[in-house]
This record gives sequence, C-alpha cells and structure tokens, in this order.
Amino acid sequence: MSTFQIDTATSRANPTPAPMKRLTVPAIRNAKGKDPIVVLTAYTIRMAQILDPHCDMLLVGDSLGQVLYGLPSSVPVSLDMMIAHGAAVVRGSYHSLVVIDMPFGSYEESPQQAFRSAARIMKETGAAAVKLEGGEAMAETVAFLAARGIPVVGHVGLTPQAVNALGGYGARGRSQEEYAKLIGDAKAIAGAGAFALVVEGVIEPLAIEMTRAIDIPTIGIGGSKECDGQVLVIDDMLGMFDRVPRFVKKYAELAEQIDSAVGQYAADVRSRAFPTIEQTYQPKG
Ligand code: KIV
Repeated sequence: MSTFQIDTATSRANPTPAPMKRLTVPAIRNAKGKDPIVVLTAYTIRMAQILDPHCDMLLVGDSLGQVLYGLPSSVPVSLDMMIAHGAAVVRGSYHSLVVIDMPFGSYEESPQQAFRSAARIMKETGAAAVKLEGGEAMAETVAFLAARGIPVVGHVGLTPQAVNALGGYGARGRSQEEYAKLIGDAKAIAGAGAFALVVEGVIEPLAIEMTRAIDIPTIGIGGSKECDGQVLVIDDMLGMFDRVPRFVKKYAELAEQIDSAVGQYAADVRSRAFPTIEQTYQPKG
C-alpha cells in the first residue's frame, strides 16, 4: 500500500461531475463528411476540464514543448513529458476522445519502436489514441500500430517535428511537386489504417483535395473550413501569446487579463489593501 495519499476531497481540481460517455475512435472515424469535429490541444487537468464539454477530441500536442516549457521547437520533447501531461488530460476529461502526440525520436526508427512507445503512452495515461507525424514513409508504422490495437491519428503537411529538415514553418504544397507528394502522403496514411488525419499549414486547395481524396476525417489547422474538423493550440486561441501563426483566430485576450489582474494584486499587496478581514482567520468567539 502506498504511504502517500492525496486527499482529493480538498483538491481544487477534484472533478465530481456525472461522468459522460466518452467518444470512441469509431465515432470519430464515422464523422467523416458530417458535422465538423471540434478539437483543441490540452496539456493540464484544469484546462481539460474546461474544454472537455465543448470538444470531440482533446489533443495533448507536443506543442507543449514551446507553449509550456519555452523550448525552441517540439524536437526536444520527451515521451515522459507527453505521458505526464497526457495522464492529467485524461483525468480531467469524461467526454472527449484523448489523443496524445508521439514525440520526435519515439517512433521513427521502426514500427516496433513505435509500438513500444505507443503502448507506454496508452498504458500509462489511459488515452485511446496516439498521433504521429509523417507521410508515406510512416505508412508501414501506422499499419503496424493499427493492426495491433493502437488507434492512430496521422499528421501531414507542415509537420513541426521536421522543422529542421523543412527549414521553417511556412505553408506547404506551393509547388506542383510538393502538392502531389502531400496528396500521396494523405492517401498513404489513410490507406494504412489511421482513423483521422491532421492537415497542417497547407495551401487551401490542397486541404480541400485531401479531404475529398481520403475516407477518414481530416482535421485542419491552417487547412480549410472544408476539412472534416478543426484544431487549434489552446493558448494561441485564448490570446496567451502576442505572435501567433496566420491560421489562428484569437477568441480571447487572456494574457492581457492576467497582466491586469496580477498588476492589481501587486498594487494591493504593496498598499496593504490585501488581505482584508475577509481573507484572514480571526479568533473564534
Ligand atoms: O502539437 C500540436 O499541438 C499539434 C497540433 C497543432 C495539430 O500537433
């Protein structure tokens, strides 16, 4: 028995909602061509709790490297980081299908390496699926995982883990050659058994053609409204950063709100306006 027990009854983040039925992989797969699939990234329990009722899928993206850890790209993100955040997001959600990114270096070497990493992710987080980046070159790996009970979301177009090879984060598919290659990538990953495909940072006609060419849902980010679903990085759409990619729409300006709240707090502390009698303990009686 563990000697360390957490008193969850007093935890701020303790969720006690009536559990909802979680969406399944076949449900997402069958949403192709129907109502758009709503996806956001989530990295922490409290954010997962807030996003969960609104989303169909929560993606624990390796963008957490830049967003949470200030890393220069997603390349340094480790499997342990993905598992720690993935488990928190699973704990904070009841409705959305949780998908966890396989980080750079955890799957490219061989299908067997990918299986070991994906199995660890699923066992240690409780998530239902993994996502990996790459086109035709990863098709064998996707087929290997899918045949062994690991649901896979593919990711083609602008693949951030390949930033060093691509030379930056520019939109893909501008040349005829690259356009044709990316269509081939989408078909290869869908044909290998992925149940959904993230299409990131491609010219819009390419996102539309990919969506029409494959029989699994496409989830666009810098793609097209004609994709079967959309995903954004949560901190981008909430306005936590000044600089965001062109494809982001900001739905809030949270950084400004936090700045203002913390400025007010600092002023209150310095002027001794906080704490007042309401936030202090007084003797009883
Ligand atoms: O890492 C991530 O957040 C992603 C999405 C942006 C698709 O892969």
